[in-house]
Amino acid sequence: MSPRVLVTGAGGQLGVALQEEFAADGVVALTRAEWDVTQPPPAGLPAVDFVLHAAAWTDVDGAEADPQGAAAGNVGGTQHAAELGVPLVTFSSDYVFDGRKREPYVESDAPNPQSVYGRTKLQSEAAAGDDAWIVRTAWLFGWTSTNFVRTMLRLGGERDEISVVADQRGSPTYVGHLAAAVRELVELPPGVWHIAADGDCTWADFAEAIFEEAGIDCRVLRITTEEFGRPAPRPAYSVLRSERPGAPQLPHWREGLRACLDRLGV
Ligand SMILES: NC(=O)c1ccc[n+]([C@@H]2O[C@H](COP(=O)([O-])OP(=O)(O)OC[C@H]3O[C@@H](n4cnc5c(N)ncnc54)[C@H](OP(=O)(O)O)[C@@H]3O)[C@@H](O)[C@H]2O)c1
Repeated sequence: MSPRVLVTGAGGQLGVALQEEFAADGVVALTRAEWDVTQPPPAGLPAVDFVLHAAAWTDVDGAEADPQGAAAGNVGGTQHAAELGVPLVTFSSDYVFDGRKREPYVESDAPNPQSVYGRTKLQSEAAAGDDAWIVRTAWLFGWTSTNFVRTMLRLGGERDEISVVADQRGSPTYVGHLAAAVRELVELPPGVWHIAADGDCTWADFAEAIFEEAGIDCRVLRITTEEFGRPAPRPAYSVLRSERPGAPQLPHWREGLRACLDRLGV
């Protein structure tokens, strides 16, 4: 069977979930070692029906110190993925918004990124071209790579208490649920789509839920973003909802958390 789907960033948490979701269709999975997307596409790639572009510079704080590197990964990388000339699904972020709203951001809300990472993700949307599906998603976690769930499981096993930011609100989204939604999405018109878990919470709420579901006895100390002190600003509120007809709906974030913990054998 000739493969139908090419996945970039195949070593990342979403890349792994996409490979699994589309396995039956035949997947060409390219890690950074196989295609560094800051470079043009390698010669000899097989013809596929879709490119699922999961490669990205995702180090939000690191981007502040190296804006050119972040732009090369996110803007240049997306441009190179679009150059394949195949229908493209690419992934953008809730961090394209400034976080001043107090009700969910929809596709027609004006972006106003506050960080270098957010700016490069917004520019990457333009680089994807008019025919691409641009999935804005948020607070991803899965069973591989470094993410908040895996970090909390590790730290919760080592400490009695942990300080977690309680003044940022978003929708923690399980990569398995997002990957399944991508399958629905490619039957819908291209353009920007907001796809994130149902429900919302703060990082501190999320940490408490992780400890509760995993049966870990670790107290969460609620701190502010300022107290946590990170180089990159984050939106205080970045809940995403879709206003587009037929938009894929994801399960609640807590359901995603349980699915992820099951997958991790916790
Ligand atoms: N994580 C989140 O909370 C979040 C939220 C909203 C949107 N998103 C977006 O969702 C997408 C997937 O993110 P993720 O959570 O799966 O991130 P991830 O786990 O960090 O995976 C990103 C992958 O891209 C690879 N990569 C980085 N630079 C590359 C390059 N120049 N060429 C090829 N591969 C490169 C990374 O390889 P290395 O491991 O070698 O660096 C990694 O395997 C990204 O577009 C991200 O911006 C993520």
